[in-house]
Formats: sequence, C-alpha cells, structure tokens
Amino acid sequence: MASFAAPVSSMDAAAALCLVLILATTTSSPVYGQQPSNGGCITEERDALLSFRAGIRSDPQNLFSSWNGPDCCQWSGVRCSNRTGHVVKLDVRNDLFFDDIYHSWYSENPHGMRGNISSSLVALHHLEYLDLSGNYLGGVDVPIPGFLGSLQSLRYLNLSCMDFHGKVPPQLGNLSRLLYLDLNNNWNHNSYGMMLHIEDISWLLRLALLRFLDLTSVNLSAIGNWVQVVNMLYNLRVLRLRRCGLVFPQIPTVHSNLTSLQILDLSDTGFHTINPTYWFWDVGTIRHLDLANNEIAEAFPDAMGNMTSLEVLCLGGNHLTSIKPEVLGNLCNLRVLTLWSNLINQDISHFLQGLPHCAWSKMELLDMSCTNVAGEIPRWINQWTDLSTLQLSSNRLEGSVPSEIGTLGKLRQLYLDGNYLNGSVSEEHLDTLVNLEELDLSYNSLHLMISSNWIPPFKLRRAYFPRCKMGPHFPLWLKGQKGVVFLDIRNKRQVAKDT
Ligand SMILES: *[C@@H]1O[C@H](CO)[C@@H](O)[C@H](O)[C@H]1NC(C)=O
Ligand SMILES: *[C@@H]1O[C@H](CO)[C@@H](O)[C@H](O)[C@H]1NC(C)=O
Ligand SMILES: *[C@@H]1O[C@H](CO)[C@@H](O)[C@H](O)[C@H]1NC(C)=O
Ligand SMILES: *[C@@H]1O[C@H](CO)[C@@H](O)[C@H](O)[C@H]1NC(C)=O
Ligand SMILES: *[C@@H]1O[C@H](CO)[C@@H](O)[C@H](O)[C@H]1NC(C)=O
Ligand SMILES: *[C@@H]1O[C@H](CO)[C@@H](O)[C@H](O)[C@H]1NC(C)=O
Ligand SMILES: *[C@@H]1O[C@H](CO)[C@@H](O)[C@H](O)[C@H]1NC(C)=O
Ligand SMILES: *[C@@H]1O[C@H](CO)[C@@H](O)[C@H](O)[C@H]1NC(C)=O
Repeated sequence: MASFAAPVSSMDAAAALCLVLILATTTSSPVYGQQPSNGGCITEERDALLSFRAGIRSDPQNLFSSWNGPDCCQWSGVRCSNRTGHVVKLDVRNDLFFDDIYHSWYSENPHGMRGNISSSLVALHHLEYLDLSGNYLGGVDVPIPGFLGSLQSLRYLNLSCMDFHGKVPPQLGNLSRLLYLDLNNNWNHNSYGMMLHIEDISWLLRLALLRFLDLTSVNLSAIGNWVQVVNMLYNLRVLRLRRCGLVFPQIPTVHSNLTSLQILDLSDTGFHTINPTYWFWDVGTIRHLDLANNEIAEAFPDAMGNMTSLEVLCLGGNHLTSIKPEVLGNLCNLRVLTLWSNLINQDISHFLQGLPHCAWSKMELLDMSCTNVAGEIPRWINQWTDLSTLQLSSNRLEGSVPSEIGTLGKLRQLYLDGNYLNGSVSEEHLDTLVNLEELDLSYNSLHLMISSNWIPPFKLRRAYFPRCKMGPHFPLWLKGQKGVVFLDIRNKRQVAKDT
C-alpha cells in the first residue's frame, strides 16, 4: 500500500523560487566586460571559496571543475552581486540525493560530496543564500558548525540531508535576516535514533522574519515550550515538524499568532487530538495540513468546518472511525484527501456523498485504502473530473467496476486491488484514460475482457493483475506497453493456456 504522506512541495518550491527571483533582481553572474576591474571577484572571497573546496574530499559530480580562473563569480554554484561584486550565493546542492536514496536504499549516496565545511566560509560576509543539502559534509560526531551563525546576511540556509549529528548550534539564532531554514534530516533509514537534537529552541525567537522552517526528524522531545516559541514566529508560511518527537502541552494554546501559515506538517508526531483548543495556527489560512501517522481517534471537531482554505488534508494512519463528512461541507478547495488505514466502516457511496460537493470536481487525490469501506463504487464518480489518483485498495467493495471510471481522463493511478469486485473490465473502462500510468486490479474476481488487438491510449509504468481472469486470448495489448517497469499477471494457468 502506498503512503501519500509525502510532502506536496510545490508551494515550498514556489516560495523558494520567489526568493531566487528576489535575489536575481539584485544579483547576476557578471558577464565579461561588465565586471569590476579586479576580475569580477573579490580576492578574499575567492580565497575563502578555495579553502571551502579544499575541505571537500570528493566531488563525484565534478561541481568544482569550473572552480579555477580568477573570476570566482563565474564558478558554478557561485553568484555575485552585480552591484558590489560580493559573493551572495553559494549553491552546491546534490540534486541527485533523492534519486540516490530511492535507488540504493542501503548503500551510500554516490553523488554527494564528502568532506567537511571549512570555517573560511565566514569570510563571505555578504552571502545571502547557502545550499549545501544532500552532501555528506557531516559524519558521526560531526555537528552542524556553529560558525555558520556568523553569516549574518543569510536569508536562505539549506542544510537538509547532510549527515550531521548532535546538537543544532544556537548560534543559528544570530541569522536574524533568515527567511528559510531547512534542517530536514529525514533520510537516514538505517538510523533508528534521530541524529540531530535541540534542547532549547529559544534562539529561534531571534529569527523573527522566518517564513519557512523545516525541522523534520530533529529530536525536539526535550522541549516543553515549542508551541509558545513557534507561535511567535508569526511570519511563518511553512512549518514542518514531522517526526520530531514533539511533546504536546497539557494546557491548550491561548491564541494563534500564525496568521500567514499555509503548510503545516505534524505527521508522525504522536498527536492525539484535533481539538481546536490545541491549534496554534490560523484556521482560515491553512491550505495543507498533514496529520498522518498519529494517534488521532476522535471524530472531526466541528471547527474543522471553518478551515475553508484547506486544499490538502492528510489523515492516513490514524485511528479515526466516526468521520462526520457533513463537517467538511464548506471545504470547497479540497483537492487531496488521504484517510488510509483508518477504519471508516461505511458504505463508500454514503461516505463520498458526505464529502463537500463543491469540491467534487476539484479532487485530485483520494486515498481510502484499508479503510473498511464497503458497497459499490458509485457511477457518479464521473463527477470527480479532476481525479488523478484513486486509491481504494484492500476494502470490501463489491459489484462491478462502473464504466463511468473510463470518463476520468486525468486518472494516472487507479488502485482497486484487494476487494470483492466482480464482472468485467473492458475497453470501455480504459479507452479514454490517456494519462493512466499505474493500474492495479489484482485480488478481485474481475475478468479483463479486452480484445487482443486493442491499442491502449496510455503507457503504463506499473500494472498488477494477479487473480484477474484474462483471456480467452493472451492480452497482446499489454505487449505494447514498453514502459512497464512492474508487470504482474500471475495467473499461471491462464497464461500457460495461451502460450
Ligand atoms: C544589475 O542589477 C540591476 C538590478 O538591481 C539591473 O537593473 C542591472 O541591469 C544589472 N546589471 C547587470 C550588468 O547585470
Ligand atoms: C575534516 O575531515 C578530515 C577527514 O577528511 C578529518 O580528518 C578532519 O578532522 C575534519 N576536520 C574537522 C574540523 O572536522
Ligand atoms: C532544501 O534542499 C532539498 C534538497 O536537497 C529540497 O528538497 C528542499 O526543498 C530545500 N528546501 C528549501 C526551503 O528550499
Ligand atoms: C551568536 O550567538 C551565540 C549564542 O547564541 C553568541 O554567544 C555569539 O556571541 C553570537 N555571535 C555573533 C557573531 O553574534
Ligand atoms: C530524543 O531525545 C531524548 C532525550 O532528549 C532521548 O531520550 C530519545 O531517545 C531521543 N529519541 C530518538 C529517537 O533518538
Ligand atoms: C505573538 O507574537 C508576538 C510577536 O512575536 C508576541 O509578542 C506575542 O506574545 C505572540 N502572542 C502569542 C499568543 O504567542
Ligand atoms: C466558525 O467561524 C465562525 C465565524 O468566524 C464562528 O462564528 C464559528 O464559531 C466557527 N465555528 C466553529 C465550530 O468554531
Ligand atoms: C457480483 O457479485 C454480486 C454479489 O456481490 C452478485 O449479486 C452478482 O451477481 C455478481 N455479478 C457477477 C457478474 O458475477
């Protein structure tokens, strides 16, 4: 079963892009002929960059291959102010970090740099943007260097996924101009403990301009006053505190200061309640709320009905049973709803009827796998015209797959496996699904009645058909699906008969 708790990061990306654009208006890589007379680069800053490079033992992507020649402003990853000539940006992010993690789960990140961060960087007094993420510049017993707190012009600091250990240095509180701080450390799947920790977060209060804060997988369990501290960072747009071991205060919050907050990730935190008296964010502004993998067992409080800006609501992996869909009636902007592994115990039509009708045509993702919903998939599912992911695996759905599913032209992922669906699935179901990439019909009693010369309009990447009756002819149409990386048609008897 897939988890859709993964962050929807388009907004973060958009926010970061804005910053890049802000920087771009004041900076640019000087073009030859338009540079200050010293060759476009201040000597002390060039020396500082060279010392930084000297601390890097390996550079698998050859990022430093352009780091020679007098003009450091031309080096890859380096940007200078076109006004003052000072280095304002250093970006040596390992863009392939997540690919590495995905493809070599247990081996080490082959594209990241290794080594350590030279304190020479502190000479870059005008540095506004520093991104070292995805490079192994830490190591066991290597904490985030406190000297980074001296880079007081910084507006953007990204140290995510860098293998640092130990205490996050309070010197970061000196970065009073910071808008973005990313210390997300949620990548080391081999490590059971959390590598970074903070015992006192009062230094965060000095980052009053902060718009983006990600402390995912930083151990905050020793901090009692995190709600009060975070509540004073009233410029926050994005707050991610996933897997931080948060301890929730016994006494509910007074009143929310976070009137700009749009994205809040409190997944994997042991959160027990969605009682609004514990909310420390502005209900009216929040667009993306991730509470997946918590211990929430109560029904939705009525106040949730006032969260009318909500677009993404992730509640999978909790203990919700009695969801009152009518509470959600005004959430007309909802486009993503995940509820996997809660025991909803309802008829699917009844439940879907309760979801806000004003959002039906905007819903992009609905994940109700393992929720013990029963009954037939309603024909009016065709009103959910924007659906791109429909996840209904492992439930008690019965009857046939309505051909109306075939009108959902934006569908990319359709998971109906592990139900009691019967009847046939024909070309009519699939003919207009031009965007379909993943299809799972396995473990039902479905009969795939597709003529062998049918030409599918889609290119599947994953297809699962165990226990589907296929035939009487070998599904030749599948042979044309050249992009399939995972194809499972385990039904040996059927296939054997046809080959
Ligand atoms: C320098 O930046 C300013 C904006 O701050 C811009 O108007 C100007 O064209 C830039 N000059 C060069 C040489 O890029
Ligand atoms: C930097 O890395 C080298 C190994 O490459 C190590 O011997 C040295 O102690 C490190 N220096 C610091 C300050 O961590
Ligand atoms: C920090 O870098 C990681 C990738 O290395 C990226 O996914 C993340 O969005 C960056 N954070 C910000 C605030 O841009
Ligand atoms: C930075 O902060 C630390 C502790 O938070 C403080 O002791 C130090 O003096 C500050 N450094 C500068 C350069 O402001
Ligand atoms: C988090 O820190 C506390 C001490 O503050 C420690 O007892 C606990 O084991 C740590 N949790 C993890 C998962 O490392
Ligand atoms: C809201 O933020 C301001 C400014 O940081 C602070 O003075 C005030 O105490 C905060 N209010 C609450 C309820 O946290
Ligand atoms: C929803 O908001 C309205 C208007 O702000 C308010 O009067 C009402 O009490 C709120 N409902 C709940 C359940 O909080
Ligand atoms: C499908 O199953 C239902 C019971 O769930 C049964 O009434 C119906 O006849 C079956 N249809 C087919 C085509 O097997």
